[in-house]
Amino acid sequence: MTDPRDRDPYFSEERTDSQPHPAPPPQRPPQYPQGYDPNLPPLQPQSPYPPLPQPSRARQDIPSAHVVRPPKRTPKSGWRKALYMGSGKLINPGESPAERRQRELIGRVNQPLRGCFKIAMLSLKGGVGKTTITTTLGATFASLRGDRVIAVDANPDRGTLSQKIPIETTATIRHLLRDADKITRYSDVRAYTSQGASRLEILASEQDPAVSEAFSERDYLRAVSLLEHYYNIVLTDCGTGLMHSAMKGVLDLADALVVVSSGSVDGATSASATIDWLEAHGYGDLVKRSIVVINSVRPKAGSVDLDKLAAHFAARARTVCRIPFDPHLEEGAEIELDRLEPDTRLALLELAAAMADAFPSKA
Ligand SMILES: Nc1ncnc2c1ncn2[C@@H]1O[C@H](COP(=O)(O)OP(=O)(O)OP(=O)(O)O)[C@@H](O)[C@H]1O
Ligand SMILES: [Mg+2]
Repeated sequence: MTDPRDRDPYFSEERTDSQPHPAPPPQRPPQYPQGYDPNLPPLQPQSPYPPLPQPSRARQDIPSAHVVRPPKRTPKSGWRKALYMGSGKLINPGESPAERRQRELIGRVNQPLRGCFKIAMLSLKGGVGKTTITTTLGATFASLRGDRVIAVDANPDRGTLSQKIPIETTATIRHLLRDADKITRYSDVRAYTSQGASRLEILASEQDPAVSEAFSERDYLRAVSLLEHYYNIVLTDCGTGLMHSAMKGVLDLADALVVVSSGSVDGATSASATIDWLEAHGYGDLVKRSIVVINSVRPKAGSVDLDKLAAHFAARARTVCRIPFDPHLEEGAEIELDRLEPDTRLALLELAAAMADAFPSKA
């Protein structure tokens, strides 16, 4: 057989990685110090190459971020963009403070997440926006992050979560649990969920109230232990009330809570009562990791001082976020992030960034 080097002018024994190793020293036959013994195991040939550099040495490299000046970012809107475009891209006034803020928030939303982060939305009072916040927060995460985000309807009384995105399947959490043994891949779970334009997936609840009443803590634990293999963020839309059958499971698994309050006095009183109940039932640590959302379900705050309300909750929870009244959310139908007012989108970005600050990013 001919040597390939004789045939192929491009044949080379040199390695093609960016750090070529020195040419190997000439091969010598293995040395047997005590003379050759055919019963001994064969000697391991020594590598002709020096050991590869270890990571500690690689750290001596000059990081490109230290020596390459970052390019000045171009403005995306307003007079800055007009000036930039009008000058034929010769004058670049840079980003506006609002654009910088938005970029900083998106960076926080995108921070790395190890494992599966579980967020539960709850409130003692109905109609304050739990389902709306579950969908919009989930959609904000899903649209900005590359990983998978799912919202689960754990509402015992005919939850409305599945009405917030275009429905792709009539399957519910009950069907998923029934077929759990057959689920081995993401595409298997996907058959039970609906996905919106934001990439947020939704797992619907049982629509027959008689059946959903029987949805137990054990069912919830089984569903989440299945989902956590395939999703990085699981949001749970809880029903009103803290005593329903799956609630203990929801709270025991949650990494963080969103306690939703409306901007009215009775809404805030209920949110405070929710926090009292959680603290009295051993969930004080979870409360400290929770975010209170003051959601304006009405266009005007009336005589309620929202700043005072926010200060009240700030003393009890990790952070307080405010979601403004939004005509698109008021429709109570399918939610598309593109149709929200800029202020609402910014508020959701702030909520998602505050939530992402609690992600465990290290092992
Ligand atoms: N930020 C908002 N701006 C305008 N309207 C809103 C906003 N948030 C919620 N709404 C309105 O309030 C209604 C109730 O919201 P949602 O269904 O999210 O509340 P909920 O707490 O999940 O209710 P339930 O306890 O019945 O499950 C929505 O259908 C919508 O009309
Ligand atoms: Mg709801």
